Amino acid sequence: KLLAESNFSQECKELLSYLPKDRSFFAEYLYQYQGFWYPPNLLEGVLYSQKHFQARDSDIILVSSPKSGTTWLKALVFASVYRQEFQTPLESHPLLDNNPHSLVPFIEAFNFHTQDTFPRIFSTHIPLGSLPESIKKSSCKVVYCCRNPKDAFVSLWHFMKDLVLKEMVGCTMEQMVKGFCRGSSVYGPFWDHALEYWKESLENPKKVFFVKYEDMREKPEDWVMRIAEFLGYSFTEREIENGVLEDIIKLCSLENLSKLEVNKVGKLMNGMETKAFFRKGEIRGWKDTLTPLLAEEIDKTTEQKLIGSAFRF
Ligand code: A3P
Repeated sequence: KLLAESNFSQECKELLSYLPKDRSFFAEYLYQYQGFWYPPNLLEGVLYSQKHFQARDSDIILVSSPKSGTTWLKALVFASVYRQEFQTPLESHPLLDNNPHSLVPFIEAFNFHTQDTFPRIFSTHIPLGSLPESIKKSSCKVVYCCRNPKDAFVSLWHFMKDLVLKEMVGCTMEQMVKGFCRGSSVYGPFWDHALEYWKESLENPKKVFFVKYEDMREKPEDWVMRIAEFLGYSFTEREIENGVLEDIIKLCSLENLSKLEVNKVGKLMNGMETKAFFRKGEIRGWKDTLTPLLAEEIDKTTEQKLIGSAFRF
């Protein structure tokens, strides 16, 4: 469940009283903390993880902006890293009766203490500059997954509108595009989030590995192999011959995960319906939802944000 404001830490309550705020479609207000925007309960989670999360050298941290392929990355990395423990992924595997978010917790969701597997795998949407210090200082590895801004926006729109926040503050798509482009979106600005991790992946390639959702959709085998290698869990030629990699890709596919009971009618600990995380998974699927005018507005922001950078979404 979302944390009630009365239970927030004193630090968070104080911050909320003076941080810049912006009206939002997500909560009544989003607050800008260390350059990025959060609803109050997520801000509390970020502060809590900054204070209490202790990374270990062996930890794996999966990072993304919301709706950029988090669920898929969680499933793929979980299945790849623990492939010795769960050897027959298609017949009996934790991913068959657990949603990926239940297996790989968000560090800002207060439940990281419960993770006792080896290595520990966590995920987060926290921007680079706000990560808990111990993540930066330890030798833990970070995998960042980014997605085309228009597709991520449209995915967020459907996620909020139809599935999760029916009863919360409503707004038009135009208003939401404006907020997204202004940067005041959950964990936004979306572009800065990706660009900071991308830069870090170039400067510190042993620490941060950068992938694009679109590239993974096109060649999942290649990218899962590269991610596994980066994490120190390379697939052997023999494993590949025996179809281990192929089985993992099949197990984690949108088609397979979305038809499982746990992902059709299940709920996460915070009450969210698991089906909300599986939709179309298309590349350039935004065309179904965004008018050309709104698409152009996002494109213009993308253009401005990329001035001076070699990065392309
Ligand atoms: P769409 O809404 O465009 O379909 P996140 O996991 O970060 O919340 O992102 C959700 C997006 O990833 C949704 O995109 C969803 O359909 C897609 N997705 C979820 N599981 C997937 C999987 N196993 N393979 C590919 N895409 C997946």
